[in-house]
Amino acid sequence: MKKIIIGITGSIAIYKTCDLISQLKKKNYDIEVIMTENATRFINPLTFGSLIGKPVFTDDFDETGYQIKHIHIVENASCFIIVPATANIIAKIANGIADDPVSSAFLAATCPKIIAPAMNVHMYENTATQKNIEICRSYHIHFIEPAVGHLACGYEGKGHLAPLEDILEYIEYVTSEHPLKGKHVLVSAGPTQEALDPVRYITNHSSGKMGYAIAVAARNWGAHVTLISGPTNLKKPFGVDVIDVISANDMFERIKDFMDFQDYIIMSAAVGDYRPVSYSHHKIKKKDHEMVIQVEKNPDILAYLGQHKNRQTICGFAMETENVIDNARKKFTEKNCDLIVVNDLFEDGAGFQNDTNKVALITKHFVDYLHLMSKEELAYRIIDKLIKIKGE
Ligand code: PMT
Repeated sequence: MKKIIIGITGSIAIYKTCDLISQLKKKNYDIEVIMTENATRFINPLTFGSLIGKPVFTDDFDETGYQIKHIHIVENASCFIIVPATANIIAKIANGIADDPVSSAFLAATCPKIIAPAMNVHMYENTATQKNIEICRSYHIHFIEPAVGHLACGYEGKGHLAPLEDILEYIEYVTSEHPLKGKHVLVSAGPTQEALDPVRYITNHSSGKMGYAIAVAARNWGAHVTLISGPTNLKKPFGVDVIDVISANDMFERIKDFMDFQDYIIMSAAVGDYRPVSYSHHKIKKKDHEMVIQVEKNPDILAYLGQHKNRQTICGFAMETENVIDNARKKFTEKNCDLIVVNDLFEDGAGFQNDTNKVALITKHFVDYLHLMSKEELAYRIIDKLIKIKGE
């Protein structure tokens, strides 16, 4: 169980920390909460104590036994995050001041540290605050930039606590092992759209969830990740270079731009096999008789990667509805892959749109049947397998 320390200071955004903590609990973190006196004026420590199931540290002089609380509490922590962080706590940290439970424990901590500020826009943009942030960054403290919006003080501007999902992602990144540090990973995700006219296109049901989960897992494990994404409704993950594409040809061109310096390429996109032979610049008019759409083949990107690979370890996917393993094995050989992840469209919880997937991992001599799991968990399993195949 990873231990994380949450420092809380006196900002109105404090109510969001309750939600953050309950989400972190669900992810099985061991959580310690430290509050400044000002923070306890906004929310009683009992609220946070109830959420984490243990006392909250609020008073440096309320010692039990001989342990010095602000030193002991940060031992073996995977991460210390201050959320929300006021201008005042940032100024203290920049200057090494330790005169309250949060600043004392933060100074004593040796784990990765994150600050998520929330304050009035003018306080945030003030030269002193900006200078303090720069100083903190030079101490290798991570900052999660506040968002722009309507602030509790009535002003519009930058100062909103960053969205909780960004904070959660950041914590996950910081607390992960980084076996892919220094490596480049390219992931394709989502569907492609093959336009018929300005109104219509041919596409498929891919939501992009599988590919985005792989990109996030690779980022958490320390890789530099390029995500070539077909059209999806998903939020772009932080710390990942996302390149939007529409058609299979677009995807092919962008992948060729990036392929040479990749260590791993993972083709989870559902690339359209065909595109209309011609594109009408005006909307095709409805007719009284049947209409035939002539299509031609798109490039097979995975096959191209297999033919031109040098240092890259290549992972393809296979979406099958019959003779699942045999068909996937054929793809493994024909496309010269190092791994094929095969999913069966007819399995419950597998394939398109779901948050889960059930796959088999196919390598030259083995088939590894995995149970139904979340796409997040599967993403790590796939990357772990690829690291082993590469022998790193
Ligand atoms: O996006 P989600 O909703 O989360 O759904 C996930 C998924 C079902 C899309 C994913 O798990 C998956 O199976 N992706 C591959 C789907 C697919 O196109 O399978 P295929 O068997 O048709 O293609 C085999 C491989 O060749 C794939 O790696 C594909 O990216 C690649 N390909 C296909 C056609 C083409 N012209 N070029 C390609 O590179």
